[in-house]
Amino acid sequence: MKTPDPWTLLKPLAFKMDPERAHQTALGLLSRWSRLFDGTPGPGDIARNPSLAVEAMGLRFPNPIGLAAGLDKNAEAVPAWQALGFGFVEVGTVTALAQPGNPRPRLFRLPRDRAIVNRMGFNNEGAEAMGRRLERLRERRCLQVPLGVNLGKSKVTPAEEAAQDYRRSFERLGELADYVVVNISSPNTPGLRDLQRVDEVERIIGAIQGPNQRLNRPRPLLVKLAPDLTDEDAVACARAALGAGCVGLILTNTTIRFEGLESPTEGLSGGLSGRPLLERSTGLLARVRSELGPDPLLIGVGGIMDPEGAAAKLAAGADLIQIYTGLVYGGPGFVRRLLAELAKPRESADS
Ligand SMILES: Cc1cc2nc3c(=O)[nH]c(=O)nc-3n(C[C@H](O)[C@H](O)[C@H](O)COP(=O)(O)O)c2cc1C
Repeated sequence: MKTPDPWTLLKPLAFKMDPERAHQTALGLLSRWSRLFDGTPGPGDIARNPSLAVEAMGLRFPNPIGLAAGLDKNAEAVPAWQALGFGFVEVGTVTALAQPGNPRPRLFRLPRDRAIVNRMGFNNEGAEAMGRRLERLRERRCLQVPLGVNLGKSKVTPAEEAAQDYRRSFERLGELADYVVVNISSPNTPGLRDLQRVDEVERIIGAIQGPNQRLNRPRPLLVKLAPDLTDEDAVACARAALGAGCVGLILTNTTIRFEGLESPTEGLSGGLSGRPLLERSTGLLARVRSELGPDPLLIGVGGIMDPEGAAAKLAAGADLIQIYTGLVYGGPGFVRRLLAELAKPRESADS
């Protein structure tokens, strides 16, 4: 008899809890675990299957599935994510200044749609606290997967000073990251998404490139975009980012369009993630890939809830993929289930 996945028992309990409390409880456990263990998978682990490895941005990714930004905003549990099989981990969004985020409730499950709505508002302990945590993590030398740091604008910083705010975070955290993401696409910081314009992208990336080029090893920079841009605007922003020296894009963040949902959404506001996002997010990824050609690095994220979703992102042109909501619904075994499916065609092609 097949052993049942413990998540089938735990999920109903977790889903009875308030979503943010469940999140904090899980993160608290993983964070304590991470202080004791390194989380490095053994050589026979599917997460280290050589057929899944990806070389990109001058980095080696043991497999193409990463943890999307927002789950571990303060970099508290990186070894645990590595233990769950992720091939890379993106922490943040972190802002230059610590901030509490929006009032609660601000996190909602839509189980009938296999979706989440959040309006967290970049609740995080700030760049300095993350910097200290990442320094300790680097001293342990336990990371076998690339670590991305996702930067956002502090809420109190006016839009005109956005570039300096991003630069300040970069100056503290850039050297501790393997790659850095400029997030201008979260819907829950007023005005943030207005930065998705050619001139703003050039200004922000330009401001970061100063300190970046002074590093011994300048870090690869990426920009994360929203699925609610028109294809044309997204392509223009992507071209501006690449022109300013970025290596690629992350497509996409959550959507503010609540369309075709079974769950009632009256009074709900924020960003929608999970299954309903798959089609738009993957469509935009495919368009950007076809416009920009094979060179830029594209990380596909949005709505991957099963192996077919992962395969669709890769077929649309993603070099790497990320998940968030799929992990909430699929549980701790989700990454390895996706990896087992991704390895299949490659294994049979190899044999
Ligand atoms: C609760 C929650 C918080 C998030 N916070 C962030 C964030 O801080 N920064 C960011 O770039 N994306 C954030 N995201 C967006 C995810 O990184 C991802 O782009 C989006 O959820 C789509 O992927 P998914 O459908 O696999 O969840 C958040 C998503 C959720 C559900």
